[in-house]
Amino acid sequence: MMAKLRIGLIGAGRFGQTLMQIAQSLSELQVTAVYDVNAERAREVAAVAVANGEAIHVCSKLEELWSYTDAVLISTSHDTHLPNTLAAAAAGKAIFCEKPMALDVAECQSMIDAAAQHGVKLLVGQVTRLMPIMTRLRAILESGTIGRPVAAHILRSGWLERQGWWAATSTSGGMLHSHGAHIYDLLSSLFGQVISIYALAAPRIQPQVDYDDTIFSTIRYENGAIATVDASISGQMWIYEGHFICEQGSLQFALEQDGCWLTYQQRGGALIRETFGTFNQEGLDGVAIELRNFADFVLRDAPPFVTNQQALEAVALIQAAYTSVRTGTVVSLPYSHSKIREFNDHH
Ligand SMILES: NC(=O)c1ccc[n+]([C@@H]2O[C@H](COP(=O)([O-])OP(=O)(O)OC[C@H]3O[C@@H](n4cnc5c(N)ncnc54)[C@H](O)[C@@H]3O)[C@@H](O)[C@H]2O)c1
Repeated sequence: MMAKLRIGLIGAGRFGQTLMQIAQSLSELQVTAVYDVNAERAREVAAVAVANGEAIHVCSKLEELWSYTDAVLISTSHDTHLPNTLAAAAAGKAIFCEKPMALDVAECQSMIDAAAQHGVKLLVGQVTRLMPIMTRLRAILESGTIGRPVAAHILRSGWLERQGWWAATSTSGGMLHSHGAHIYDLLSSLFGQVISIYALAAPRIQPQVDYDDTIFSTIRYENGAIATVDASISGQMWIYEGHFICEQGSLQFALEQDGCWLTYQQRGGALIRETFGTFNQEGLDGVAIELRNFADFVLRDAPPFVTNQQALEAVALIQAAYTSVRTGTVVSLPYSHSKIREFNDHH
């Protein structure tokens, strides 16, 4: 039997705790150490694990993790994905990093370069791709039953009051670094390369955030398809739904807190409805699949479910959307680091 991958958790906050619980439930992984800049939080999380009979080392500094672990799960504020990845790569550890990969394309590229330089595996948690409902949606679109998708609309809105690092551009990147990281990546995984994006921001509702909290964007893909993504952390009602217009039919989905569903209909055919777990359960199932993929990727050289270039491209699209908001123009992709420099030099 293959040995378990010994995992160090970096960041024992809300999502780090979820990652840890799911990692502990998988036969391929064992969380052996935890580090958080908030030492109290790391101790609390470890105490829960110890009460369950698991041995967890609470590290008082990052470097202490290395002697207990083969790999790390990074679940910290977005501005610290880069330094944590650089440190783990230099220590020769395999890395699972939460989405978004980093704040900007240059940071993403540094992470990719560091992983290559030190010969370590790096995987970014683009979990929306792996939710069971999205796996099914992809299978329906790829089956050809309703033809090729030519247009999509995804709306995600709901009240998410942002505090602490989540409320500042310097530490979180902004609203699209959460909603865009999931939705733009999902759409790119279905439609392929983006060629342009146009985005507009609404007047801000949450006064404590220093970024736009409602952004609508329109994307064109190289294959001719188009998509609109309406994202807000300040709409009162929970709405997370999408609609695909395809050459031979259409498909609709909704991620609801009490149960997800999708419907699709071929032209002239009957409406077919399928139901899934709650939004929360879909997320947890997706995380279990991605962490299992991480273990297979590291231990058995299995292909990663998302490439680092794809994770970087999600961040590139987020950056391009912000540039569009700022300039009022359509921004062309690929949005390379050199183009960003050029933009900064001229504005
Ligand atoms: N995949 C998903 O569906 C999903 C959902 C929520 C959050 N996330 C991601 O998870 C990550 C963490 O989000 P969260 O909601 O758990 O935030 P959080 O604020 O609850 O937790 C972050 C933790 O990181 C710690 N931290 C900050 N900087 C650190 C550093 N340099 N080294 C070690 N610890 C550090 C903080 O003390 C805190 O305990 C983010 O990347 C976020 O986007 C993903």
